[in-house]
Amino acid sequence: MLSAAVILVGGQGTRLRPLTYQLPKPMIPVLNRPFLEHTLAYLKNYEVGSTILALSYLPEAIQSHLGDGANLGMPLNYAVEAKALGTAGAVKNAESYLESTFAVLNGDIFTDLDLGDMLTFHRRKRAKATIALTWVDNPCAFGVVETEGDGRVRRFTEKPSPDRVTTNWINAGIYILEPEVLRHVPEASHYMFERGLFPRLLELDEPVYGYPFSGYWLDMGTPEKYLRLNCDLLSVKVASHLIPGLSQDGIYCEADATIHPSASIASPVVIGGGCRIDQGVQIKGPVVIGAGCHIGEGASLERAVLWTGVSVKAGSCLKQCLVNRSEIGGKEQIIDFSHP
Ligand code: GTP
Repeated sequence: MLSAAVILVGGQGTRLRPLTYQLPKPMIPVLNRPFLEHTLAYLKNYEVGSTILALSYLPEAIQSHLGDGANLGMPLNYAVEAKALGTAGAVKNAESYLESTFAVLNGDIFTDLDLGDMLTFHRRKRAKATIALTWVDNPCAFGVVETEGDGRVRRFTEKPSPDRVTTNWINAGIYILEPEVLRHVPEASHYMFERGLFPRLLELDEPVYGYPFSGYWLDMGTPEKYLRLNCDLLSVKVASHLIPGLSQDGIYCEADATIHPSASIASPVVIGGGCRIDQGVQIKGPVVIGAGCHIGEGASLERAVLWTGVSVKAGSCLKQCLVNRSEIGGKEQIIDFSHP
């Protein structure tokens, strides 16, 4: 059992601007539900004493939506930073909740990693810190982690240039830690795991281990990856514990949506409440349509995510895209991000 899990919800989501000007990245809808709710549903599968949200950017938006967690059936605590403290500084700020072995999750990661198995690994190795590792084709934009044969971490390299890549295993942003490591994190200062605490633990010869896993892992922090996550969930490449039992053949439509009988809808598709889909519309999944959208006559949608209240003009063709504004399209307008 983990005494606690801390979810880091702090960055400004710079790679998702302008979507994140008013909405913190973890509140962005994935299959019409805030991303963070998917993460919380994942955590609910494990025996976790308490869940703490470490917040720095637009904390009110998250606190007012989730409250004390009663609606989700899991008690939530908050550790809010007056100014951003960095990944390790944010966990230090939540230290009063952390009595024994706990987990830390980056708030923008979607994964099906087996946290129970990772905890068993952590215990077997008697590690002070265990870092989940995922394999990527091109590790140059990530923190690379070199390990010994037994999994003990030898070296960290942040964002290596191509000629300095020694392994494709990268830090997946999921950690299991012993509370005592937090004594190496300064109080109320900006401090990071990747460049601060973990290299410091290696210098001190503390047992830091890498836990490689081969399951699904995606950092949804860019528009392309955000779109991919929605599509992967709908295509059942990975499952969300928040919305179990999705099928690739599914057309999930809220009861009060109105769909013209001539509209053609090919799965997998999610259609939110109050949507209106007009004559001759063609929808080819994976497609997610937020609540209250209107899809005008003859429009076509393919591999697209529409947020709440979008009006797609008649005759528009939307392909491979994400729409968060209230009105889009027109007969002459083709929106296709697949070949930028
Ligand atoms: P953004 O796109 O700006 O969020 O940056 P990033 O995705 O590159 O985030 P980074 O890898 O720096 O951080 C990993 C996780 O820690 C993300 O979920 C961030 O939201 C979160 N995080 C980063 N800095 C802070 C911080 O100062 N405080 C808190 N609470 N969380 C943070």
